[in-house]
Amino acid sequence: MNPIIRTQHLKKSFGRSFVLRDVNLEIPEKSICAIIGQSGTGKSVLIKTIIGMIKADSGKVWFRDKELTSLGKDELMNIRQAFGYSFQNAALFDSMTVGENLAFPLKEVLRLKDRKQIRDRVAQLLDWIELPGIESKQPDELSGGMRKRVGVARALIMHPEVLFFDEPTTGLDPVLSETINNLVMRVNRELDITCVMITHDIPAAFKICDKIFVLDNGVVVAHGSPKDVAGSNHPIVMDFIRISFEELRV
Ligand SMILES: Nc1ncnc2c1ncn2[C@@H]1O[C@H](COP(=O)(O)OP(=O)(O)OP(=O)(O)O)[C@@H](O)[C@H]1O
Ligand SMILES: [Mg+2]
Repeated sequence: MNPIIRTQHLKKSFGRSFVLRDVNLEIPEKSICAIIGQSGTGKSVLIKTIIGMIKADSGKVWFRDKELTSLGKDELMNIRQAFGYSFQNAALFDSMTVGENLAFPLKEVLRLKDRKQIRDRVAQLLDWIELPGIESKQPDELSGGMRKRVGVARALIMHPEVLFFDEPTTGLDPVLSETINNLVMRVNRELDITCVMITHDIPAAFKICDKIFVLDNGVVVAHGSPKDVAGSNHPIVMDFIRISFEELRV
């Protein structure tokens, strides 16, 4: 399968702290991929660098045949519309209702003016995430799981081709985590969207992903199908997987 996203020798440091040292990865089109690794290892920075929220120090990011790092501002803005991003803390604007949160990108980025069209699109997405009719609720009236789902809906509203999820299940109970993992699978299967997920839920990553990347100390130390990664003899990967699955045994 052709990669929809590819990074080559991606590097990023903050002051003297080298976060991405040399990241090379390929995300196959229409796949679900996971990026796993210890806290603070640069997973969020990697995704933010891919979508252009953080500027790489060097290296290249490709989206299909376009090298994003070489594009001018306008062209980059256009291409970035193909990316949706569901933030680590499901950042919704607390001063706006759910409906206004979802409508925001349609008004501000797509400059849609037709209120019925906006209302219909918002309602349709709330239906799709199985939270119909919650347009007038404030984000602080929602449970953690509902907020995450609304965060996903907001990322979907622009019809992205790739949706990045930064820890969609962190802080949720196991049942809700499964609901969100199922939502990721539905995004992938029903909407044909490539999904890239950062997660600490290693068993879920092994269950639902086509490809897993293990990031450590600024490089990808193992990658491939869940089976390939489970068979890696890299000490960090072996530890990480052993500990994650040991927790499952009571
Ligand atoms: N804007 C920034 N300015 C300076 N340092 C940053 C910035 N963003 C991230 N960092 C640093 O980069 C490192 C990697 O952070 P990052 O958030 O990518 O980790 P992570 O792998 O996503 O961790 P977690 O699993 O806890 O979310 C950390 O040391 C962090 O402090
Ligand atoms: Mg993070």
